[in-house]
Amino acid sequence: MNQDKYCVRDISLAETGRKNISFSIKEMPVLTKIKQRFEREKPLKGIRVGMALHITTETAYLVETLIAGGALVSICSCNPLSTQDNSAAYLAKIGVSVFGYKGESKGEYYEFIERVISFKPQITVDDGCDLVTMLHEKHPELLDGVWGGTEETTTGVRRLKAMHRAGKLRYPVIAVNDNFTKHMFDNYYGTGQSAIDGIIRASNVLIAGKKVVVVGYGDCGKGVAARARGLGAIVIVTEVSPKRALQAAMDGHLVMPLMEAAKIGDIFITVTGNKNVVPFEAIRLMKDSAILANAGHFDNEIDVAALERNATEKEEIRPYFKRYRINGKDVYLCGEGRLVNLVCGEGHPSSVLDLSFAGQALAVGYLVKNRGKLNVGVIKLPKEIDDEIARLKLESMGIRIDTLTKEQIAYLNNWKEGT
Ligand SMILES: NC(=O)c1ccc[n+]([C@@H]2O[C@H](COP(=O)([O-])OP(=O)(O)OC[C@H]3O[C@@H](n4cnc5c(N)ncnc54)[C@H](O)[C@@H]3O)[C@@H](O)[C@H]2O)c1
Repeated sequence: MNQDKYCVRDISLAETGRKNISFSIKEMPVLTKIKQRFEREKPLKGIRVGMALHITTETAYLVETLIAGGALVSICSCNPLSTQDNSAAYLAKIGVSVFGYKGESKGEYYEFIERVISFKPQITVDDGCDLVTMLHEKHPELLDGVWGGTEETTTGVRRLKAMHRAGKLRYPVIAVNDNFTKHMFDNYYGTGQSAIDGIIRASNVLIAGKKVVVVGYGDCGKGVAARARGLGAIVIVTEVSPKRALQAAMDGHLVMPLMEAAKIGDIFITVTGNKNVVPFEAIRLMKDSAILANAGHFDNEIDVAALERNATEKEEIRPYFKRYRINGKDVYLCGEGRLVNLVCGEGHPSSVLDLSFAGQALAVGYLVKNRGKLNVGVIKLPKEIDDEIARLKLESMGIRIDTLTKEQIAYLNNWKEGT
């Protein structure tokens, strides 16, 4: 498995990867448009881009887009269980330096990030902030050579902001997550559908009639709750934010503290980006056959360590679906408590990642174009770029919209005109 340029599960999976990617591309018209422009203009010529993203079909297409723009890419995964081995094999086959396979150990996970860092990236593309953190903590001598970075997810943006507050962040990072066209689609529609899909693939349970407890009512939680309800579940939301809890109640969901929900829920899905939101005391209260899944970025939302320590019996029932005997009852954990949509399913549908990765590709182009001009810190992509992504997506869907008239523009900028 170990080679200099790549480390993947099985290079012979490349052809399956190619086939999967060829279908994903059909669902990614916005990224395709950007790729065509990159091919013509080569805005990333010779730039070294180091990436830590879930290695999936869509990511492979993003890598191809950056390469089309002239970039040199080295990539590892941002989660030990999320790599699609055929996509990784495809990338290796076309000559990309790619490090990752599904089921890699924690040690290998960090070793693979090191491999990407040794490529001396000028731009980092991160998902969760592990690449940026390691670069800053272990290789500060390389930071002068980094022009900027991009961050894909809420948890990564939170870490970057904390890093900046502590005066530690040394280069500008674009929070791609904060693009409207990212979090609105990816977190809401993407996580909404794919987290439920992951649970169904892991367990094959019927969602209709079940009490589904959604822990955290952010963009992801709202999407998960909406899709669970769409399948006929009774949705219970637990929150710590009064505003979000109020919104959940107004959306028609039951809202209660976790320790109450624990006693009645059938399926628990965490999407908070926070740690230990389903502690062991809550798990002890759960009914027999309760199912636990996490769709937040890290595997610290459910207290898996306590489950492992305290279970009187445990066994893998199906792939990534494990039974734990606690207090004379069985609870089932999907995907080892890691991102259920990527571990037990295939992650977001391609059409969702079309928008997220259009944002990533344009953010990389923006960083290169504005090298040296951007302030160190966590920054947003200009609104016009976000709007352009939405416009291109609408165009690809054959949807036309209206434009403001001159009179309306003047009215909206006027403070004198009232009733
Ligand atoms: N699975 C995926 O593919 C995917 C996609 C996008 C984002 N994410 C990740 O999902 C997580 C959530 O993202 P988001 O954009 O919805 O974040 P968000 O910040 O919009 O929402 C998180 C919510 O969780 C709530 N919360 C925090 N602690 C809680 C607790 N102890 N109990 C109950 N609620 C609590 C917060 O009040 C907030 O409303 C992040 O880790 C993010 O990185 C995963």
